[in-house]
Amino acid sequence: MKTLIKNGKIITSVNEYIADIYIEDGIIKEIGKDLSNTVDEIVDATGKYIFPGGVDEHVHYGSFGSKLFNTTDAAAVGGTTTIVDFAPQDKDVPLIEAIKKQASKAENQACVDYAFHGIIMDPKDSVFEEIPKLPEIGVASLKLFMAYKGTSFYSDDESILKAMNIAKKHGITMMVHAENADIINVLQKKYLEEGCTDPVYHYYSRPPIAEQEATERAISLAKSADCPLYVVHVSIKEAMESIRKANQEGWPIFAETCTHYLTLNTDYLAKPNFEGAKYVCAPPLRPQMHLDALWEGVQKGWIQAVGSDHCAVDGGFEAKKRGIGDFTKIPNGCPGVQDRLALLWTKGVCEGKITRQKFVELFATQPAKVVGLYPQKGDIAIGSDADILIFDPEYKGVIRNVDSLHDTDYSPFEGFEFRGLAEKVFLRGELIAEKGKFVGKRGKGKWQKCKPYALCYDYYKEKALPKH
Ligand code: URP
Ligand code: ZN
Ligand code: ZN
Repeated sequence: MKTLIKNGKIITSVNEYIADIYIEDGIIKEIGKDLSNTVDEIVDATGKYIFPGGVDEHVHYGSFGSKLFNTTDAAAVGGTTTIVDFAPQDKDVPLIEAIKKQASKAENQACVDYAFHGIIMDPKDSVFEEIPKLPEIGVASLKLFMAYKGTSFYSDDESILKAMNIAKKHGITMMVHAENADIINVLQKKYLEEGCTDPVYHYYSRPPIAEQEATERAISLAKSADCPLYVVHVSIKEAMESIRKANQEGWPIFAETCTHYLTLNTDYLAKPNFEGAKYVCAPPLRPQMHLDALWEGVQKGWIQAVGSDHCAVDGGFEAKKRGIGDFTKIPNGCPGVQDRLALLWTKGVCEGKITRQKFVELFATQPAKVVGLYPQKGDIAIGSDADILIFDPEYKGVIRNVDSLHDTDYSPFEGFEFRGLAEKVFLRGELIAEKGKFVGKRGKGKWQKCKPYALCYDYYKEKALPKH
């Protein structure tokens, strides 16, 4: 298949210009003015913006009781052409086997390309010994959880440090979920004993100090191991500032935040009639001051990427109601993969907080760099996959769950007004979404293999700073 996209304004993370794009066999082969290659199809993009397809490096399909890969058409219509899923590990199942099992669930189901982070949920020597082999199956990042004590997700500091010491020798990017599990457990018990059972106590039992302490501890562990660290779903000002300070001191410590931490505050958790449960995710939504600080962070480059942490709980609001009378039983997670584009563009670019190029950086380029998929993904460049989003900046709409493809009965962003629309979305040169409708074929998404020594290791490659 040969396609020519003509006259669009190409926006990358570093420049903007009007040009034509020639695509052959799913790859961008030429970019230039007035291209006249013989093609099967010409797409007129006059007056439209052209972005690289989005890369959402934080999604859950199957873990935490979430919906499966057959619902990834939601990513496609939201302009995201690559998702990076956290592959859960069951006890006594080897890490690599767990990742392959998760990959088999995506095969023939995923509507967009996909890759994986490992999760260590069974921290023992045989599992640590698998870390060096992860790049052989195209996995270059690992998440460990400092929260969720009492569940299989939890890892103690010793396990995290052990993993870091091995990971750094093989270019594996270490990620942590930074919340202090003991603070949370004690507060959850206290509030329940006091009869405080509503969803808003999810926030009160996971206060900012729990995230701040764990983030600072994770940074200390990374420093002591001299291992790069990427702290996922940063939701508070103080954690962002600790990461920024470490980074400015020369440590390879980086941050991701998520769309809901930029757009929804704690008031949503306090909605009456148990509606607040729809917004239960971890870390919890935060007071407005933190949202404002995080916007400053993305603008100034203290935060590298914005993921969705898409986790559409199977059963939707009904499933969340398992927590009526006990907020700790509300399953964590919110859908969001479809809305990352609309929210980042509208609340970021249209409200003057970030530039168009910064939007591309946060939405596609940096996420691809963080996970080791760049430059195949995350850029409009010769040789990159033709994952292309033709964007109509004039469109005005309202987020409605009836238009959402995540297969959940609510959207946390219901009623949000947005600007701009993914008019056409191409995955490796194939049209997969058009004006909010999925027009591709389920199962066409392919497993993308991530390369080790990704962005968080640039510090060692380029700066050649003395060892601390
Ligand atoms: O509440 C959330 N975010 N569920 C997914 C789990 C996680 O920690 O990312
Ligand atoms: Zn997490
Ligand atoms: Zn997550």
